[in-house]
Amino acid sequence: MTHQIAVIPGDGIGTEVISEGIKCLKTLSEIFKNLQFQFDYLPWGSEYHLRHGRMMPEGGLEILKSFDAIYLGAVGDPRIPDDITLHGLLLPIKFGFDLYVGLRPVTLFKGIESPLTHILQEEIDIVVIRENTEGEYSNVGGISGIGEGELAIQSGIFTRKGIERIITFAFQYAREKGRKKVTSVTKSNAQRYGMVLWDRIFKEVASRFPEIKTESKLIDAACMDVVRNPKGYDVIVASNLFADILSDLTASVTGGMGLAPGASFNPKDKTYPGFFDPVHGSAPDIAGKGLANPIAAILTAKLMLDYLGEKEAGDLLYQAAKQNLSEKKVRTMDLGGHSRTNEVGDDIVRILRSF
Ligand code: NAD
Ligand code: IPM
Ligand code: MN
Repeated sequence: MTHQIAVIPGDGIGTEVISEGIKCLKTLSEIFKNLQFQFDYLPWGSEYHLRHGRMMPEGGLEILKSFDAIYLGAVGDPRIPDDITLHGLLLPIKFGFDLYVGLRPVTLFKGIESPLTHILQEEIDIVVIRENTEGEYSNVGGISGIGEGELAIQSGIFTRKGIERIITFAFQYAREKGRKKVTSVTKSNAQRYGMVLWDRIFKEVASRFPEIKTESKLIDAACMDVVRNPKGYDVIVASNLFADILSDLTASVTGGMGLAPGASFNPKDKTYPGFFDPVHGSAPDIAGKGLANPIAAILTAKLMLDYLGEKEAGDLLYQAAKQNLSEKKVRTMDLGGHSRTNEVGDDIVRILRSF
């Protein structure tokens, strides 16, 4: 089967890590004869913006629509304000294609030291499930006035439909994967409307999954507690902004941004392609130096394979990444190693071929 993949390497380390992911996917299609990919490269992002004044061509979503999945590195460039880059490419894809689930799993792999030294390897295994299409990211508001009188309004949109479907997905995911607990994170003591509705719907949905333990936490306490007691978390479901913040935090307690993958998709409707990008950004501080860890992008390719129904290939890629980490030989600087981005990709290809 040939999967049509739109590849948007994007900016900064995005281009460096995506090429390693593609290398692994091409290796998998040599191993599995029925697994083929057609990769179409789209040079969209900040360079494109500097030349054409926009992040993607007009009708960009029309172009993307026909693909089975979109594999993106990262966007963001110090020369362009972040709200322009992100509202010009990344967010229109998630919103426009109604990819309401943001799935962001992290595991403390064998071979990786947690900054929390009393935690043993493999003892942290958290999936952050992010509402991707509304909440605090709704592009509603405005800035008016001048000087001292400047005023901004930034509104959040929380709909019953949006809240209910993401919480239901979190519980179904927990049930399907044999996970035991779902934690919902809000700030309903201060955000009295959207978050109060969220808490109420969480209770309603939870009652349909009596075998799964539930917990409702405030975002400040949750941040504190993920660091204090990361083993206490299993599936976390939260609004667009809170899950964004939590997914950097969960990445951090499991070895950093270089290991955290992400997937955005609509589990009910595959009319539009799923969108796959690591949790990290374009990391301008290390871009262009071969220092970026490509494992987040490679584990992101694994999530894309799962989405495409290629479970066997996805599992193999996951095992290969795990083996690279537990061998502790070929690793990038963020993990205390000296290897370059492409050497880690090559090592994972070597392991794939050795299976
Ligand atoms: P970032 O995730 O790019 O970097 C944060 C820190 O983590 C940096 O010190 C960086 O060097 C390190 N890091 C990130 N990925 C790494 C990797 N693979 N290997 C080793 N180290 C890694 O976050 P930031 O600096 O806040 O954002 C930079 C730009 O990226 C901004 O323009 C931001 O808007 C954008 N951004 C884009 C995405 C995306 O496209 N999906 C996600 C987050 C941020
Ligand atoms: C992420 C990023 C994006 C987000 C930004 C860059 C808009 O931080 O994918 O985690 O919050 O959606
Ligand atoms: Mn983020």
